[in-house]
Amino acid sequence: VHPLSAIAWTESGSVRILDQTLLPGEERYLDLATVDAVAEAISMLRVRGAPLIGIAGAMGATLAARGPNGSAVRLEDVLAGCDRLQSTRPTAVNLAWGLERMRRRARASAAQGADLLPALTAEANAIWEEDRLMCQRIGEAGLRLIQDGSTVLTHCNAGALATGGIGTALAPVYLAHQAGRGVKVVADETRPLLQGSRLTAWELLRAGIPVTVIADNMAASRLRRGDISCVIVGADRIAANGDVANKIGTYGVALAARAHGVPFYVAAPTSTFDFATANGTAIPIEERRADEVRSVHGKPVAAPGAAVWNPAFDVTPAELLTGYITDQGLLERDQLSTLIRQKS
Ligand code: MRU
Repeated sequence: VHPLSAIAWTESGSVRILDQTLLPGEERYLDLATVDAVAEAISMLRVRGAPLIGIAGAMGATLAARGPNGSAVRLEDVLAGCDRLQSTRPTAVNLAWGLERMRRRARASAAQGADLLPALTAEANAIWEEDRLMCQRIGEAGLRLIQDGSTVLTHCNAGALATGGIGTALAPVYLAHQAGRGVKVVADETRPLLQGSRLTAWELLRAGIPVTVIADNMAASRLRRGDISCVIVGADRIAANGDVANKIGTYGVALAARAHGVPFYVAAPTSTFDFATANGTAIPIEERRADEVRSVHGKPVAAPGAAVWNPAFDVTPAELLTGYITDQGLLERDQLSTLIRQKS
């Protein structure tokens, strides 16, 4: 439904990414040939979004299995590459989940004396293809929330740019648009790095879906106006009790949605659920560099000398959610325990 591809293999087996830090001004692709180059791209948010960094990490791990001039590599080198990639970002569980699959696959093929590269390439492709399918199912599960003429408010970017498919939060929007329902999106700009105004608005407009950008401090007023049908956001990690880590600012939107009686949904694939983490307080929250807050596109916007706090994510308590839009279907808040039982 959506031709955009944020990641690809090159013919020589490198990882090609769309450099998302340059959007919307420039659509530039980077070919990454080493584990360090992929790690840098993940750390700098050139490639970003929980499912997509899971895929990028897995594809990056294959680069650790390519010895000089096609020579064989040792299992330890591949495992070290996985550790390097995992050290880049702590909050999205998809990265750790994807790399754990790569480690397991590497160990299994090493135990059989098999060549690591083809096995790891197959595993990375499986992770990518599964994500594409999960996005499609999330879209189908959430479609009934979007009637003709609906307006959906979203925060950050949980679209095609953040996944291997049509996105998570935006998947129902794409399918509703495809089904001919007039759907509009209100996108929070999402400071400090502007994923909403730069990325969500860019990919929706590319698909012909009307989008209105608002600064983050306008969301509560917009929710009070009464023209938002529902809020749909993505997730970086969902704990066993249903608490959700997502882009900083999500919590405030959830509080405002509750105050104004607007349904608030979190869309996420199975790979984002972390049943080993009991609740939101145990989710590690990435803190990023102060200059992301001090400046916008290199221009200072804070008084010199001001201290900065820059958490990249916050936790929305499960009580504030209406439900979860997952590849296993649309779950009301209290149905999450069924999914947990199935998975554990
Ligand atoms: O820091 P980012 O841009 O990687 O943060 C992205 C988000 O918070 C998304 O909402 C989340 O990863 C879900 S993407 C389908």
